[in-house]
Amino acid sequence: MAILKIARMGHPVLRQPAAAVADPASAEIQRLIADMKDTLADAEGVGLAAPQVYVSQAVMMFFVPPSRTAADEDDDGVPLTVLINPEIEAIGEETVGGWEGCLSIPGLQGYVSRWARIRYRGLDAKGQRIEREAGGFHARVVQHEYDHLMGVLYPDRITDHARFGFVEELRRHPSAID
Ligand code: NI
Repeated sequence: MAILKIARMGHPVLRQPAAAVADPASAEIQRLIADMKDTLADAEGVGLAAPQVYVSQAVMMFFVPPSRTAADEDDDGVPLTVLINPEIEAIGEETVGGWEGCLSIPGLQGYVSRWARIRYRGLDAKGQRIEREAGGFHARVVQHEYDHLMGVLYPDRITDHARFGFVEELRRHPSAID
């Protein structure tokens, strides 16, 4: 078990597109996945991408707690999912705004527009193909983690910078961001 250091915004590893994984079964990738799980649990996050632990490889993981699933969404939570070499496509044109945070940008939150529904594909930790459709928070977390593999961070996608700030302040002044 190893808890890895998490790179913070400003470190170039977060801006570098991640390389495709050649062999998901390799000891190196299996170790990375195990360490990323430990790191995500320790940080109490919902998603983590390998560049956030200074490894520029296309590995990401996420889960959706049942509490983050709205009543009108079809996902009743999603267990921890490892995705290697993922691909994403939008289903339809609809976008939806929502608040996001990031373990690489501690203490801040921003309001970001994302595709409302997506289809994603990739390999799981055993190298088996995964293909799923997602909406709601599930779609949001997958797009956020996928962005990390492209060297994109959520502030890049903020259009209304009044809706970007420290979580503490945003909670203290909710009327300012309605
Ligand atoms: Ni992030």
